[in-house]
Amino acid sequence: MKLSRKIFLLSAVACGMMVAHDAAHAAHHAPGDPADEKARQVLAHMSPEDKMSLLFSVDGGGFNGSVAPPGGLGSAAYLRAPAGSGLPDLQISDAGLGIRNPAHIRKDGAAVSLPSGLSTASSWDMDMAREAGAMIGREAWQSGFNVLLGGGADLTRDPRGGRNFEYAGEDPLQTGRMVGSTIAGVQSQHVISTLKHYAMNDLETSRMTMSADIDPVAMRESDLLGFEIALETGHPGSVMCSYNRVNDLYACENPYLLNTTLKQDWHYPGFVMSDWGATHSSARAALAGLDQESAGDHADARPYFQALLAADVKAGRVPQSRIDDMAQRIVRSLFAQGLVDHPPQRAPLDVVTDTLVAQRDEEEGAVLLRNEGNVLPLSPTARIAVIGGHADVGVISGGGSSQVDPIGGEVVKGPGKKDWPGDPVYFPSSPLKAMRAEAPSAHITYDPGTNIAAAVRAARAADVAVVYATQFTFEGMDAPNMHLDGNADALIAAVAAANPRTVVVMETGDPVLMPWNSSVAGVLEAWFPGSGGGTAIARLLFGKVAPSGHLTMTFPQAESQLAHPDIAGVTANNVFEMQFHTDQELVYDEGSDVGYRWFDRNHLKPLYPFGYGLTYTTFATDGLAAGYHHKELTVTFNVRNTGTRPGVDVPQVYVGLPDGGARRLGGWQRVTLAPGESRQVSVQVDPRLLAHFDGRHDRWAIPSGRFRVWLGTSAVDDSQQVSVHLPARTLAP
Ligand code: BGC
Repeated sequence: MKLSRKIFLLSAVACGMMVAHDAAHAAHHAPGDPADEKARQVLAHMSPEDKMSLLFSVDGGGFNGSVAPPGGLGSAAYLRAPAGSGLPDLQISDAGLGIRNPAHIRKDGAAVSLPSGLSTASSWDMDMAREAGAMIGREAWQSGFNVLLGGGADLTRDPRGGRNFEYAGEDPLQTGRMVGSTIAGVQSQHVISTLKHYAMNDLETSRMTMSADIDPVAMRESDLLGFEIALETGHPGSVMCSYNRVNDLYACENPYLLNTTLKQDWHYPGFVMSDWGATHSSARAALAGLDQESAGDHADARPYFQALLAADVKAGRVPQSRIDDMAQRIVRSLFAQGLVDHPPQRAPLDVVTDTLVAQRDEEEGAVLLRNEGNVLPLSPTARIAVIGGHADVGVISGGGSSQVDPIGGEVVKGPGKKDWPGDPVYFPSSPLKAMRAEAPSAHITYDPGTNIAAAVRAARAADVAVVYATQFTFEGMDAPNMHLDGNADALIAAVAAANPRTVVVMETGDPVLMPWNSSVAGVLEAWFPGSGGGTAIARLLFGKVAPSGHLTMTFPQAESQLAHPDIAGVTANNVFEMQFHTDQELVYDEGSDVGYRWFDRNHLKPLYPFGYGLTYTTFATDGLAAGYHHKELTVTFNVRNTGTRPGVDVPQVYVGLPDGGARRLGGWQRVTLAPGESRQVSVQVDPRLLAHFDGRHDRWAIPSGRFRVWLGTSAVDDSQQVSVHLPARTLAP
């Protein structure tokens, strides 16, 4: 293990060093790009000091106890534009699910929250993701912000990751397309979206110190491919480098990540900003490709990109051309995303419209995992015992910098966690109230679930029991285990024993273990449901809308099935202690076989596989064919709705390379069909999923031979398979 780690380090450092010099010394040129040209004109008249000032934002009042700087609205960071430059100040706000109000600093800081990123991703609907992004982009703009720190694209390498709920899941193609679509939506509102946390910030444990060690080739085929596709799909104005080290070097001073991969290979024209507290040097970081230090007056050990960087330039350690390139990239993004021409116009939020977007997002993203005997949809006249999860008042959300202040206030107090991130916040969208509104003729009781005997009595007296169970996860700490919170497992088991028609609605940040799975009739995974969550859940349960979400993460049967059964250090109970847990290396020797690929490679049977999801109708597919024309692998098939209700199917195409290895998701379609309706579907496979990354020549290489193609309802569906011969081909990175 040690030996292989050394090889990763050598190759990564060597690659980075080779191009660091060139990339760092060449100001960015993109002939014909109007934003680039406009930026060049503005910068031509700017003094070196003013250029330097673009490279450093200050704390915007985002730290507990700090205050907003003059001109700042109160947010994660603020950057005052040079006087007379015609450029806007940067009002920089968190995050990917909605507009954050850190430490309640702004009086009118509540906003509408989307469901978790994981929920949006589980819709597999790029249009929905775009619309969701446009909603939070619009709220940012109406609140005076022009940079939104949203667009989390780290892969789920561990289903216990504290921030998995902000991300999209375990597959690079799915993540890249879904997160990229959200970014495009945000930016349609003249707000820069920040793709983060670049890269390998897949765990919270020791995030400030740990080195994620991985063969660079495997990284290009997994985590980095997710970022690459998100970039192509969304064109984010900025990319945030992460806290952790990658192959020993901090991500924000890692030339392989920033110069070689992002800027050279992917031709990224925008700017790299550091995560809050992730800058560790001036010259080293600037030469490796960092363009802007975030909240550097407060978050970092020293304000590196001010006097220290100026001194580096003076001493010749950093060429002026590099400073010019940094400024060019930043100003270019301001023009490219419309920040200069369309400054924010503050206006009251359209809460009703925006909540509807959040609700629809949740309706598409919730995943129906189990529906024995068609227990769902619920009858509108049934006697229903609703139990637990604070369903009488709201839905839980994930904690940390993506937390949105709820409109209508916090409806659950406690349990009294003093440290970051504080108590879980529930959005006041009550599933119980929404169920009663949805089915006025039903008889619906509520029991808080705190006393199991009382809950069992309520369940016995009803036709159906609906148990709400939560798992609170948050930034800064990984889940120490995969269990639901509190007494949920025991509660569900007891209720299911009392009433076989038990449905569990899970509001979780991650996959959980479900020891009671086979004894309940129904399971709906609602993730963190967001501001419209209660209504969405009720509409799904009563069949007003049919579930259409599909898992983007494997649900394991046990932690022993994971590539890394234990997270070293996760038992520390203080979040801060844990983030800074020192001297930690995590060797990702599973390489690019993340999630379902790991399960496939090791012939492990998950509890619920990647891609899985039920609905209230049934579908059949046939006519699978794969053809290679004009250098494209195209897969065609027919889908038919064989049930009695309208519904949405998400058929998935997986591919297997001739030289073996785990199967990979190559594409998918989301198809809406009326009962009896059928459609021919065609899916083009992204050629990078047919290739290996060739690190020696820095390009993708498709081997020649017979490729297997599966059409599946999930990553473990072997029912339909064809093969196709492809010639060898190479692709530029
Ligand atoms: C998080 C970022 C966030 C930043 C600003 C950091 O701790 O990792 O995601 O955007 O804080 O609040």
